[in-house]
Order: sequence, then structure tokens, then C-alpha cells
Amino acid sequence: MNLKKMAGFRAGKEVKDGQIIGLGTGSTTHYFIESLGMRIKEEEIQVMGIPTSYQSFLLAKQWKIPVTSLEEHDIDIAVDGADEIDPDLNLIKGGGAAHTLEKIVDYAACEFIVIADETKLVSELGTFPVPLEIISQSTKPVFSALKDMGADPEIRMAKFKDGPVISDNGNFIVDANFYEINNPIQLEKDLNSIPGVVENGIFSQMVDKVILGTSEGIKILK
Ligand code: 5RP
Repeated sequence: MNLKKMAGFRAGKEVKDGQIIGLGTGSTTHYFIESLGMRIKEEEIQVMGIPTSYQSFLLAKQWKIPVTSLEEHDIDIAVDGADEIDPDLNLIKGGGAAHTLEKIVDYAACEFIVIADETKLVSELGTFPVPLEIISQSTKPVFSALKDMGADPEIRMAKFKDGPVISDNGNFIVDANFYEINNPIQLEKDLNSIPGVVENGIFSQMVDKVILGTSEGIKILK
């Protein structure tokens, strides 16, 4: 049983004809975008997507989902994945380096739905390092500020290339390991106050609903 697929396809059923949909990034949202494409083809529903990355833009094109922008449309529902989900539904996101546009789109949506498999549920955020998109020239002072805050930061490196990951916006990604995060709401604000940080991957107090794929079936968390 593919739990990510289960969650992605269940979220596809939440979409109503005529809606504008925020299209998240990652392997779970891949299934959501596929399910939306299938509904457009089979049920002829008319929806438009607002992608959160080149990856979701290209996937939307592949599934013939018309795309639009925040300039032109308001968003009814955003559906996105997560790297960690705590009991208050605060998130860490950005494993795919797309958290800046994801936060803009997810925040702008009337309803923000997270889709994930059950491995993403944690009792406290922090095992997964917090991704930060930073201006490349700010690396040294940003590292210094992060260390003062108790984190171990690392520049994210490309898997098969000898160089840093570059975001869709042309910036570096730093993974800051805080090990345990007691107050994600405050940390989200503090991280964005460091000059050079474009956006961080803590999404606190934003989620309306989580659709979780579990070995016992779909669970809904609100
Ligand atoms: C991308 C993200 C992803 O939504 C997050 O990393 C989860 O990915 P996946 O669905 O592949 O587990 O935040 O920036």
C-alpha cells in the first residue's frame, strides 16, 4: 500500500469544479496533481492550478492542468506535503527546497490541506533540520546567527554534483539542525528576522486539515 498515493488521491476528491488550487511540491503532491489531472480528463471538471515550484509547474503541464498565478486569481485550496507535522499541526517543510513559494501560496489559500504518510507525524518538531532559503552572500553571518541560536547549519549540497543546491529563486538552501524545537511559532519569526534569510521552512499555525495515509487507512487531523 502506497500511503503517499492514498493521501494524494484522497485530497484530489476534495477539489470542486471551478476552484483555484495551490499545487504543492514533492512526491506526495505528485500523486495529488496526478489525481487532479485524471479528474479533469475523466469528469471534465474545470480547475486551475497555481504551482509552488518548477517541479509542480511541469507536472501540471504534463497532466494538462491549466496554470495561473497569484496576480490573476485567489486560491480556494492549497494542497501540499510536509517533512514533519507536530500535534498542533505546525510543520517543517522545504525538503524539496521549495518552501518560500510554498509558504506564499499555502498562506494565501482559503483552505490549506496537508497530505502526508504517517511517518511525518512527530511529537515535537526538530528531528528534521529546518530548511532556510538564504541570499548566497549572507552565508557567513547567517551561519553565525544560527549557531548563536543553538543550531548546527549546513549548506545543502546537490546529490550528484559538487556544488550547492540552488533554489528556483537562485538562492542557497541551509539546513539548520535544532534537534528539538519547543516553540515553533517563535522560532519561525526569529529565523526570518536574520538578515539574508529569505524564508524558513517552519509553517506554524497555518494548517486547516491533514490528510494522513496510514496502514489502517486515511486519517483526518484538524
Ligand atoms: C518541498 C516540501 C515537500 O512538500 C516536503 O519535503 C515533503 O515531500 P514528500 O511529499 O516528497 O515527502 O516541503 O519543499
